[in-house]
Amino acid sequence: MLTGFWYRALRSEEVRPRQLVPVMLIEVPLVCGRTDSGQAFAMRDNCPHRGIPLSYGWFDGQNVQCSYHGWKFDACSAQCVEIPSLTRDDKLDPNKIRAGHFHCEERDGYLWVFIPDPGTSGEANAPAPVLPTFSENYRRTHLWAELPSNVDHGIIGLMDPAHGPFVHSAWWWRKRDSIHEKEKHFEHIPLGFRMSAHVPSKNSAPYKLLKWYAGDADVTTTIDFVLPNLRYETIRAGKYWFASLTTVTPITRDRCRIDVAAAWNIFLHVPLAMTIARHFGKQFVEQDRQTMVQQAQGLKHNPSLMLIDDADKPAKWYFQLKASHLESKRTGQPFKHPLAGPVTLHWRS
Ligand code: FES
Ligand SMILES: [Fe+2]
Repeated sequence: MLTGFWYRALRSEEVRPRQLVPVMLIEVPLVCGRTDSGQAFAMRDNCPHRGIPLSYGWFDGQNVQCSYHGWKFDACSAQCVEIPSLTRDDKLDPNKIRAGHFHCEERDGYLWVFIPDPGTSGEANAPAPVLPTFSENYRRTHLWAELPSNVDHGIIGLMDPAHGPFVHSAWWWRKRDSIHEKEKHFEHIPLGFRMSAHVPSKNSAPYKLLKWYAGDADVTTTIDFVLPNLRYETIRAGKYWFASLTTVTPITRDRCRIDVAAAWNIFLHVPLAMTIARHFGKQFVEQDRQTMVQQAQGLKHNPSLMLIDDADKPAKWYFQLKASHLESKRTGQPFKHPLAGPVTLHWRS
């Protein structure tokens, strides 16, 4: 599990006014919320006094108060502002005490939390990732599922082209007998790789629909994977577009969550378009979840596993990117990218 990155901790709609929400993220217990002035925050869910989770306490819209001895902390800075047991003669200055604190940004319907490398200041090295959009008017939706898997299995599921016709076999997506050979070009991007803009698979109904909707415009798809867990997909067809940012977030060593945020500017005025899109999207995520549940059954017995060329090449790159990143952090040497230049892969799906 990689530190020094932003992660989606929870969906904005899970945080109600004046509520403290406990959430586990990369094995760090957090308590999240939003102040009355609308600022999202994330603290470590342990009181610095005796360790009880702060999420059992109270939140007045600005300060979090521990349920054990009532110490109060400013939610945004985590600085202690009051210790009720102190007398006038006590020398202790509460302001010198801080609870654990994490950078938190709310964006695209999520609370993003920066998990710093151990022993660093905790300062985020960049803003939280953004779901790209290409026009003023668009619709947006969110889908999610918890997976009983280590984050690596969740992530390689994101970039695994060969499972489509089997796991996602459906009349509206693709069928097993529609498998055909594909050639895809890849290039390197910072901390990741890109499946270069290409004409999307013709064997799926959504692409046919988009093609029909966009008239003469050429349809192209670009898919990026970026460490630690980000998969961006952008489909453009003239002035129409669809974009998604999918993440697989480590909760603990053997649990993760897939979150999909998708936005588009097609069918904006068609009644029920959102309901229909969500219906199919949910089906898709559920198929992946089911597969992960089944895979977890098999993995309990520690079988040996394989990654083959070319269909599993993106998964290999993921492991190499991770290893290079950790190596460069350990040694201070520049990051060695596993893709030296453009690469073409072939597989059937
Ligand atoms: S444990 Fe929180 S105030 Fe004592
Ligand atoms: Fe899938």
